[in-house]
Amino acid sequence: MTQHRHATITGTGSYLPDRVVTNFDLEEMVDTSDEWIRQRTGIVERRIADDDVATSDLCVHAARWAIKNANIDPLDIELILVATVTPDTFFPSTACYVQKGIGAKNAAAMDLSAACAGFLYGLDLADGMIKSGRYNTVLVVGGEVFNNIVDWSDRSTCVLFGDGAGAAVVQATDEPKGILASYIGSDGDYSDNDLLGIPAGGSRMPITKGVIDQKLDKLKMNGREVFKLGVRLMPEAAQRVLSEADVSVEEIDLLIPHQANLRIIEAVGDRLGVPREKVYINVDKYGNTSAATVIIALDEAIREGRAKPGDLLLFVTFGAGLTWGSTLLRL
Ligand code: UT7
Repeated sequence: MTQHRHATITGTGSYLPDRVVTNFDLEEMVDTSDEWIRQRTGIVERRIADDDVATSDLCVHAARWAIKNANIDPLDIELILVATVTPDTFFPSTACYVQKGIGAKNAAAMDLSAACAGFLYGLDLADGMIKSGRYNTVLVVGGEVFNNIVDWSDRSTCVLFGDGAGAAVVQATDEPKGILASYIGSDGDYSDNDLLGIPAGGSRMPITKGVIDQKLDKLKMNGREVFKLGVRLMPEAAQRVLSEADVSVEEIDLLIPHQANLRIIEAVGDRLGVPREKVYINVDKYGNTSAATVIIALDEAIREGRAKPGDLLLFVTFGAGLTWGSTLLRL
């Protein structure tokens, strides 16, 4: 293994459906209020894909932007990783649809299931594959169409999620930049579907009429428990990469945490000691887009000039499984 070989993000892209659903729109559907949603979550609106739009459609748009911004040919891509829990179909993989959509004929393609931590799991794999010399160019995508798995009569969950996708071209470089440290973890003791997950639809509980009647094919969550776990696990994960790279929190230019709830984001920033102005927030506009949150946020931060070449960025996320991850990246 060549020690001077690094993996860096050379281009990003994101795509959000046009349709905006506001908290006021949700007031018409369930017993909730704009005030409750803003105060408890920080969410103001979210994007919802049209009925005929699948996850790969959003991913292809995002990937095209990432490819353009990285200034590469789609044929250069050797591996496509799509992080999602809302694949177009169980199989073929969503990544194969993306490969077709962007014309990346030379790429291997596969999906990655790590819920909201999925994009950072994908970055970690890309980092390892590139550092080992196996590949030079990997496309990592996070994309979700959550509106089909959300129970639109359950006010405790339906107000939280949105649809969207983001993509990053990850390439080898000899320059001392890119991914400085990466960490992913999991704890299957928390795999109970009622904590966070969808009970039915897989081999454990196939879809039947009874399953549909009981809405067991829809997302379930114990929000309060998940909240506590997120506030504990994300700072711990972030500390791991800071220690590994011997970087102090004061050196961080921008913290990009998973966008699930403004209160969680602020608690994570506070626990880490990152001042509010260095914490990226867009949960107000998009809600929780699961595997897509951190890469949509990075793409926006770059376009807004809040993440610039040379900046030190800290990503941290957690999700169902439980799964979690953190990445320290010199842009
Ligand atoms: O990507 C990772 C996945 N998800 C998360 O990270 C989400 C983590 N959890 C959360 O963000 C928060 O727990 C929620 C936003 C889901 C809930 O906030 P909370 O402050 O933990 O509220 P709660 O669940 O303790 O509920 C408080 C009250 C309850 O009423 P009672 O029992 O006090 O009368 C709920 O029934 O708020 C009620 N409630 C609502 N009221 C109006 C729950 N959802 C709503 C709603 N509108 N949408």
